[in-house]
Amino acid sequence: MANKTVILRIKRQLTPDSKAYWEEFEVPYRPGMNVISALMDIAATPTTRDGKQTTPITYDSNCLEEVCGSCAMLINGKARMACSALVDHLEQPIRLEPFTKFPVVRDLAVERQVLFENLKRVKAWIPVDGTYDLGQGPRQSAADQEQAYPYSRCISCTCCMEVCPQFNMNTNFVGAATIGQVRLFNTHPTGKMQKDERLHALMGDGGIHECGYAQNCVEICPKDIPLTKAISEVGQEVMKLAFKDLFRK
Ligand code: SF4
Ligand code: SF4
Ligand code: FES
Repeated sequence: MANKTVILRIKRQLTPDSKAYWEEFEVPYRPGMNVISALMDIAATPTTRDGKQTTPITYDSNCLEEVCGSCAMLINGKARMACSALVDHLEQPIRLEPFTKFPVVRDLAVERQVLFENLKRVKAWIPVDGTYDLGQGPRQSAADQEQAYPYSRCISCTCCMEVCPQFNMNTNFVGAATIGQVRLFNTHPTGKMQKDERLHALMGDGGIHECGYAQNCVEICPKDIPLTKAISEVGQEVMKLAFKDLFRK
């Protein structure tokens, strides 16, 4: 019996502006292998299925355990993490493409800086006021910790932005991941000191009102983050603050 192999069809693009094209590869099968290990095999012997010498595929990855969020790509048309995509569960040929809503750097690697810019826009952090000891921070009840925990699981993979009908390179919509982080920091006992600043950042161009509530984000999130709950809770807070602002004028 011939040795089992894995066939991959990969969309390649050598520079941000060059034309994309497809290459097909065949690598030896190993039980339990994932998409990243198949890409590593291609890198070791970069030869296409029809015997043409080529270059290794460029892609991002780091943790290999669905924690760093860097290996997100389209696998058989679905936005997901390559390190947790097991070959045994995928139809072959396995089709790999870069995300479509972000500029391609090369092959499967895309520029996802926009998410980090959005996180800066909403101040998705807790400011540290100097390096001296400020004593203990306010306590957070176990019940509140439990509510907040799911939002802290975000790995910045941008899968939720890739599948969002409202997010693309021509809109400024912040996307679900950023709104989830506003939910996280605005309910933190120290983080809530910047609550209004974060809510103001979600008003106007690209703000939370641009969400069409299609719920694609919550379906795709690899960390099961309750994104639509965050969108509706933060949306209500934004509305309340907008009314308050009206009466303050
Ligand atoms: S609910 Fe829909 S429109 Fe809103 S962020 Fe999620 S995917 Fe995008
Ligand atoms: S919210 Fe979920 S899908 Fe979006 S970036 Fe975070 S982990 Fe990824
Ligand atoms: S390599 Fe870190 S999430 Fe896949």
